[in-house]
Parts: sequence; structure tokens; C-alpha cells
Amino acid sequence: MGSFKGQVFLVLLVAVAVLVMAFSAVPASAKTYHKVHEPKEIHKKRCYEAVKNNFNGWVKRVGDYVEKSSKSGPHTKRNLGVVAPRTIVVDQLGRGNFLTVQDAVNSVPTGNTKRVIIQINAGTYRQKIIVPSTKPFITFQGAGIKKTVLVWHDTAGEAGGTGLSASTFVKSAHFIAQDLTFANSAPAPVGGAVGKQAVAFRITGDMAAFYRVAFLGAQDTLYDQTGRHLFAHCFIQGSIDFIFGDGRSLYLDCHLNSIAVPYEGSLTAQNRGSNTDIGGYSFVGCVVTGTGPIYLGRAWGPYSRTVFIRTFFENIIIPAGWYNWGITSRQKTVFYGQYECSGPGANLSGRVPWGRELTSAEASPFSDTRFIDGALWL
Ligand SMILES: *[C@@H]1O[C@H](CO)[C@@H](O)[C@H](O)[C@H]1NC(C)=O
Repeated sequence: MGSFKGQVFLVLLVAVAVLVMAFSAVPASAKTYHKVHEPKEIHKKRCYEAVKNNFNGWVKRVGDYVEKSSKSGPHTKRNLGVVAPRTIVVDQLGRGNFLTVQDAVNSVPTGNTKRVIIQINAGTYRQKIIVPSTKPFITFQGAGIKKTVLVWHDTAGEAGGTGLSASTFVKSAHFIAQDLTFANSAPAPVGGAVGKQAVAFRITGDMAAFYRVAFLGAQDTLYDQTGRHLFAHCFIQGSIDFIFGDGRSLYLDCHLNSIAVPYEGSLTAQNRGSNTDIGGYSFVGCVVTGTGPIYLGRAWGPYSRTVFIRTFFENIIIPAGWYNWGITSRQKTVFYGQYECSGPGANLSGRVPWGRELTSAEASPFSDTRFIDGALWL
């Protein structure tokens, strides 16, 4: 990523209750926007109801099921049983099993087949964290977005690459994070600065879900690199390409906040290399606020694919909407669009012709958890 210019048993019920309550805890501004800008009849729209129903179903299942070992492999819903999850506690003041998150992760056995909940008590935990691919089924459970903060401050220049700058890097499948913040505290770079990308969170693990999680950074905040992911009720802040990578992800009811300085920003930089690549980002029912002007997306890959559905935009979007990364041929192969979006930044009149209002048929496959094969793993 170059700089812009340069280029779960009793836990069942409790978990369900907590998650359902969490629904009502979207950032106040997001709540207000939805209230103000979404007429009641729009709420009745079929595709949005489908999203909600799927999500409520997921909340219940994540609460109800935990993994049990299986001969046929751990990666499908079929293998989820009713074995109680194991909880281990991280507390910097010594009131848990571990002082650091990494020590807790290290304690999970290689080839783990049963959900391990790492409860991270309130505190700011300053260290880089890696969850290896050999340790699936880990949950990071924080005490709240503002209470549990996992932060480091590497930049690409210091770490030897954008990906290596990540404060937290999850490589394993079936990762879940709830009620905490992932941050990179490196200062926001000025436009054109080289090597200042600073990733807060990077994921290459498949089938991951994030619920009420904040991702805080500036350039390249969330490296949604590969795999199928659900981000629900998350807060994501950044400036340039702040959600980027080749993941196949559904961002549901999230709040994206731009801290871009003029003409230096883009919400997304999806990197899809070929027409058969499964990658793509879908934002459904989100709210976009902050400073601009910024692009909705930039074509990092030739087949870059990004869709905004029923999302509210403040007046911070560059009218053209999308940027071809300086490569004209990408205009023919990217898939960019919006569907039933609202707010002053949603105005289509200045959009490039290759970033347009989608038909309901075109928007439908992106509109709910089907997009991330939710029936298989959620
Ligand atoms: C969209 O922008 C155009 C051009 O600035 C303006 O004429 C039009 O009124 C806007 N439409 C809405 C719905 O705001």
C-alpha cells in the first residue's frame, strides 16, 4: 500500500443477552443518523430484514454452540457441538491467569479444536500480538470498546512492510473478537509520506466475526487481507485506504469515521486480483462520518470489488466516488456500486460511470450473510 500521492452453556443465555443488548449500544451518532435518515418504510425492505434476521440467528448460534473435535475437520457448522468453552483471563494487574494477551494465546494448544475465550479485563495492553494459524477457535472478549485496548505503534518503515506493522495479527480460523479496541498509535502521516502506514489489525484467518470492536488508526488501519469475515456494529477509523486487502467481508451496521486531510483519503482499497477471486467488501446499513473529501474506494487490484448498501454518508465523499489507482484499464474490471444509500455524500450526480447505483438484483448477493457463506459457518 503506497502513500496516496506516491501512488459458550449458562454462557449461552448470558452471551445471547449480552449480544442482544449490544445491539442498542451503537455509537450515539450512528444511532441518530439511522433514526433521522431512514424512514420507517425503508426498514421494511426485504433485503435489510434478511440481514437482520440472519444476524439475530448468528448471535444465537454463537451463543449456543462451541466446537467439539471432529474427524471431518473443524471448519463447518456440522462440527459445532455443545461442549462448554474454556475461559482464561488476562489481567495486567494480576487478577487473572495471564498478564499479557500473547501469553494467553501461547497457552492455547496447537491444533486447538474447542473454543477458548480469552477474557481480557479492562486496561491498555501495549504489545504486538500474533494469533498463529495453528490455534483456531479463539475468542478475544474485552470489557468494552473504551475499556480494553490492544495497541502498538509500528509503522511500515519501522517494521519492514505494511503487513508487519500490524499491532495485532490473526492468522487462525474461527476467530471472534467482542467489546474491545484494536489500535495503532503511530501518528497520522501527512500526505505523500513514505513508510508511515500503520496497521492496527490484520487478519488472514477464515471465518472470523467481530462484534462491537473498534479499529483505530490512520493510514491502513484494518488489513482485511484474506478470508470470510463479519464485522457487525464495529467502529473503524482511519484516513487513507483504511479498510484494505483481499478479504471477503460483510460490514454490517458499522460506523466508519474518516480523519483524512483534504484529498488524501479513501475509505477502502479492496485488492482483488482476478475475476474468479472471491474477495470483496460489502457495507450494509453503515454510517460514514468525519473529515474529507475522501473516495469510497480505490482500485488496489484490477478486479477490486466494493459495494455500499443502505449506508449513510456525511458530506465528505469526493463526488467522483471512486479512483482507478491511476490505471485506466481497471475501470473496465472493477465492481463498484451503491444501493439505496442516503445522506449528502450519497449523491450520484458526480460519480464516475463505473461506480453507479446498483439494481436490487445486483445488490442482493451482497446484502446479507450469504455473501460470506454464513450458512456454512455462522
Ligand atoms: C446532487 O448533486 C447535484 C449537483 O450538485 C444537485 O443538483 C442535486 O440537487 C443533488 N441531489 C440531491 C438529492 O441532493
